[in-house]
Amino acid sequence: MKVDGKDMRPIWFEKESETVQVIDQRFLPHKLIIEDLNTVDDTIHAIREMYVRGAPLIGATGAFGVYVILVQENNKGGDNEYLVSECKRLKDARPTAVNLSWGVDRVMSVALNRDNYKARVKAALDEALKIVEEEVVNCRKIGEYGMSVIEEISKEKNGKPVNILTHCNAGWLACIEYGTATAPIYAAFDNNIDVHVWVDETRPLNQGSRLTAWELGKHGVPHTIITDNAGGHVMQHGMVDLVIVGTDRTTRAGDVANKIGTYLKALAAKDNNIPFYVALPSSTFDWEITDGLADIPIEERDPGEIRYVQGLCNGKIEKVLVPPEASKAANHAFDVTPARLVTGFITERGIVRAAEKDIMSLFPDKKK
Ligand code: MRU
Repeated sequence: MKVDGKDMRPIWFEKESETVQVIDQRFLPHKLIIEDLNTVDDTIHAIREMYVRGAPLIGATGAFGVYVILVQENNKGGDNEYLVSECKRLKDARPTAVNLSWGVDRVMSVALNRDNYKARVKAALDEALKIVEEEVVNCRKIGEYGMSVIEEISKEKNGKPVNILTHCNAGWLACIEYGTATAPIYAAFDNNIDVHVWVDETRPLNQGSRLTAWELGKHGVPHTIITDNAGGHVMQHGMVDLVIVGTDRTTRAGDVANKIGTYLKALAAKDNNIPFYVALPSSTFDWEITDGLADIPIEERDPGEIRYVQGLCNGKIEKVLVPPEASKAANHAFDVTPARLVTGFITERGIVRAAEKDIMSLFPDKKK
């Protein structure tokens, strides 16, 4: 996507220096900082500390991470056990988004299939680059399929703006291009459908107000930031036509783990008869599990992310303490929305109901 006229992605391979580079998203929208990922520890740190975040991007970063391990491994004589154990460390960087283990395992198995070191390094890099391009195509298709939902509502409203609520950032910063939840919005906007986006600020790290608002603004999409608590109110007052969110892990039965607060939006949408769609590439389905509440690991992060708020102060990025110094805080980073609250999934293969039978008929190749 374009940032001030320049093509940008949140991760890329710089051919000249043979380096994996990422946007450090922690400082957006106020500072655009680029970092190199030279070692597996750099890569783990970037995922854990959320320089890179969002399920498809974490998957792509993990995929490049295997290449990075191999380049470092130069000194370790192509040892399989070393590669597998370093990949395990990489997969443990964040627990909820299934894309991370998916990306790492896919590149690792391709690499392990090559018997000489040089071929391994090349195969790992090629596979990571392939994953990136596949996810770009997946998100473009999600945009095309999802646009039809927006188009239909626009027709029903005689061209009046379609109000779409989204939570967290499931935009190109979280993917590579287009985003998942935002792909249908960008597609509709680019096709002259009048849209307006309610952007949940998404505490504690404000991926909505910092990142989604920045992305939408750079593309010219009309949007308004609301507090996380305002969603129910705007829905009750007819100000929301459609909710679209992303996901970090979705079971084969359609339970959805996404950024904390998504469940409450789904409940409010149900109570107000507002369609609630989840947009995702197939890399975000966990085909091994059916029960989201029982089987999806929910990340608990540093309570400091709740106790402090970050923003721009006199031209400098600062963090300030909000609650009493002594109060405890608990930082559950994701929640699970049961399939019964989801209207449908927008995937690269089309739109499907949130039920195991329907999902598996769209993805018959994923049957156990
Ligand atoms: O903690 P984050 O910022 O990695 O959480 C991201 C989300 O919850 C996104 O909605 C999800 O990864 C989907 S990204 C297309």
